[in-house]
Amino acid sequence: MNLDDLRELLAQYDQQHVLRHWSQLDAGQQSNLAAQLDEIDLAELASLVSGEDEATDFSALASRASSPPAVRADGGGADWSPAEARERGEEALRNGELGAVIVAGGQGTRLGFDQPKGMFPIGPVSERTLFQFFADRLLAVNEKYGCRIPLYIMTSDATDQETREYFAANENLGIPAEDLYIFKQGVMPAVDAATGKLLMQSKGSLALSPDGHGGTVSALESCGCLADAAKRGIQHLAYIQVDNPLAHLCEPELIGHHLMAASEMTTQVVQKRYPMERVGNVVLVDGKVQIIEYSDLPESAAEAVNEDGSLKLWAGNIAVHLFKLNFLQRVAGQADSLPFHRASKKVPYCDEQGQLVSPAEPNATKFERFIFDLLPIAKNAFVVESFASEAFAPVKNANDADTDTPKAAKKAIVDLHRQWLEEAGVCVDQGVQVEINPKLALTVSDLREKITTNMRIDADRYFDIPLES
Ligand code: UD1
Repeated sequence: MNLDDLRELLAQYDQQHVLRHWSQLDAGQQSNLAAQLDEIDLAELASLVSGEDEATDFSALASRASSPPAVRADGGGADWSPAEARERGEEALRNGELGAVIVAGGQGTRLGFDQPKGMFPIGPVSERTLFQFFADRLLAVNEKYGCRIPLYIMTSDATDQETREYFAANENLGIPAEDLYIFKQGVMPAVDAATGKLLMQSKGSLALSPDGHGGTVSALESCGCLADAAKRGIQHLAYIQVDNPLAHLCEPELIGHHLMAASEMTTQVVQKRYPMERVGNVVLVDGKVQIIEYSDLPESAAEAVNEDGSLKLWAGNIAVHLFKLNFLQRVAGQADSLPFHRASKKVPYCDEQGQLVSPAEPNATKFERFIFDLLPIAKNAFVVESFASEAFAPVKNANDADTDTPKAAKKAIVDLHRQWLEEAGVCVDQGVQVEINPKLALTVSDLREKITTNMRIDADRYFDIPLES
């Protein structure tokens, strides 16, 4: 688009101020700004700013919310058994019906780690990174079921380059190059909360941020990953966030439940530990499964209890989902299938004089889409409960926080692997740190087959392959 057309377009939406410093920019900066503007849907932004799509009344929603129908962790709640589900899931894996998606974008500011979160060394003994955890798991699943699961990793502007360099420098962590796709999520501009005007990060650059993990759908589509998956005969995509080392990527039982329920989107949940835990609340409202984010749930609804004292809204979102591929293909074609959520944030901006201002109070509105908003539009949306000790160890905050720290996640990994070893007949001394690579064992039964002697573990140990007794 030439400069005159650009000016005209911006004027149409009263955003021409973004070209205020144009004449002071060099050619590279000018083309960068023009490219940023090209990526933005100004009509959509205008409608968001005017509030046409207006915000959901979460209090009203929460007052109608009840607990979702779910397969419980003890296997109750479904017309089939966990064993039947596992068998069905294993069959789908053997048939090559699964692909994997890891979302590793965003900005990851809370952890205070200056590299992409996937590069965080989370292995309590091995110091393997989060990316290594998932790569090893995927390779182990491939080996066990004789399949080749492609891995689609979503990055953001903040994480893309380092993630690519990391994989390149580490031989793709063992994943064949033809089965690994790294693609970048889209961006959304931040606007001045009072005026709706686009904020500038510098004279030649807009203040942009990632468009939320809801951006996964359109990014998967535009990078050609959905088409690639279809070409491979893949029918379902297993989705996880990079911040949970216990996430069971491509776990057969979960896949089986998803298939037996003929669901377009299945989500794994855990029991919330306390009412205001920072997890999304998976609920049933007006007959539809949906998620009310922790920040949107009124305290009274979060604290409501059943007669036995248990939480009414008990199901916590761990962001492990399964999608039918043709469901994603369908919604990718519908621009407004996911609503935008607004967040009020402090965003530094470049003022009329070209000076950078760092606001002390929130000055900006950011817009994000959440992938879990696909639940209410999915056919037969389904919920499966797991024990948090087996499936959820979120890495969100630095170690000085009370919850969701790397320290807590490492402890959860050690506790789980200690339990597996003990169930397999191994004696692990108190205080000893143990960690099992999924290439050795994906489950306790795998471990039992690998361990032949009655071992005693009296020093920290990483159970890699091959296993020496
Ligand atoms: C998220 C979920 C919450 C869930 C919890 C489980 C949202 C809005 N809420 O909360 O319901 O219970 O995880 O751990 O997601 N990401 C991107 N691009 C983005 C934003 C996020 O790739 O634009 C990915 C990153 O891997 C990030 C993860 O999503 O680590 C979670 O995002 P974050 O904003 O940290 O969500 P939480 O508040 O932790």
